[in-house]
Amino acid sequence: MKTILITGGAGFIGSNFVHHILDTYPDYRVKVLDKLTYAGNLDNLRDVMDDDRFTFIKGDICDKALLKEAAEDVDYIVNFAAETHVDRSILDSEAFIRTDVLGTYTLLETVRELNIERFVQISTDEVYGSITEGSFKEDAPLNPSSPYAASKAGADMLVNAYWVTYRLPVIITRSSNNYGPYQYPEKLIPLFITNALEDKPLPLYGDGMNVRDWLYVKDNCEAIDLVLHKGEPGRIYNIGGDNERTNIEITRKILAILGKPESLIRYVTDRKGHDRRYSIDSTRIHNLGWHPRTDFDTALEDTVHWYVENRWWWERVKSGEFQRFYKEYYKM
Ligand code: NAD
Ligand code: DAU
Repeated sequence: MKTILITGGAGFIGSNFVHHILDTYPDYRVKVLDKLTYAGNLDNLRDVMDDDRFTFIKGDICDKALLKEAAEDVDYIVNFAAETHVDRSILDSEAFIRTDVLGTYTLLETVRELNIERFVQISTDEVYGSITEGSFKEDAPLNPSSPYAASKAGADMLVNAYWVTYRLPVIITRSSNNYGPYQYPEKLIPLFITNALEDKPLPLYGDGMNVRDWLYVKDNCEAIDLVLHKGEPGRIYNIGGDNERTNIEITRKILAILGKPESLIRYVTDRKGHDRRYSIDSTRIHNLGWHPRTDFDTALEDTVHWYVENRWWWERVKSGEFQRFYKEYYKM
């Protein structure tokens, strides 16, 4: 019997990870601590709310006293809590610095005070910055472009410092772009699926030729599970989908699956500081025994169908704070 505290567990990847853990380990208990920002959504956890093994705590990872109370009886902490959207960090980055840097520091201090067996920090391939050719290994220098990526890089530096200084049992994962159910529709794939379903334009930045490495969220959850249980403390693990695609290719595929016309594509002004290509070398986690299991075309179709079938979920999300951000950022 183990108890895991999953911070940020009401967001996209965190809620998928909660489901993964409860489904995979019948004798585990899961506590979620989440601030329920605009991106946190209890609908993502509705089918585990009545599970005896599950507890939800509304709270902020910057709140030291609350964290200490929540983590007192836990074996592991996995931190997904963050401000995560690059475009929002371009508009205003204060919350990114607060949650991603100060929040991670507060978690590390909590781990230092309590007897936690393992702390996994969920980071991102964006901390390496853009790469024209080849792929970044875990020891590549950090070169973040956006305030979001810089806030995540700051957190990674702190996690590493707590390993070097205090030998805290910490591990960092840096994954590539995730997609799947429960992703907030400000991100490329759910935004374009839901806009297409509403016959609204799909705002493609620049020339549409930026490259991202797409990873199905359920594959990422398996990788995080492996790292939590079998990873080496003090290490960083890249988790890539080995699936690099241009944004225009993704856009066309979504429209084709939905049977919608390409005339919905609207080329718009490029994102400021837009990284051209992300690419990571995942040899280290391959050697630990993980490979992405999902075929991209099948998982993208499944994802599109999830949004088709769960209109109630995204219509509710899109009718809220999303509207304010969308109007301010896209002016559409
Ligand atoms: P998300 O935006 O969907 O969810 C973030 C969650 O964190 C929300 O539930 C929110 O309420 C919670 N949160 C925010 N601030 C908080 C605070 N101060 N205290 C407690 N909870 C707080 O994010 P996501 O896409 O699921 O990303 C999860 C993690 O994975 C992040 O750390 C992100 O940097 C990282 N990541 C994401 C991707 C991706 O493609 N989505 C890829 C690589 C890494
Ligand atoms: O690489 C991992 C990162 O992936 C995570 O750390 C971030 O939390 C997550 O948001 C994501 O960042 P990106 O900026 O890569 O994802 P996003 O979905 O915002 O954009 C993907 C690509 O699509 C990027 O090249 C920008 C482009 N794009 C995005 C949006 C929202 C558009 O062309 N139009 C859009 O409207």
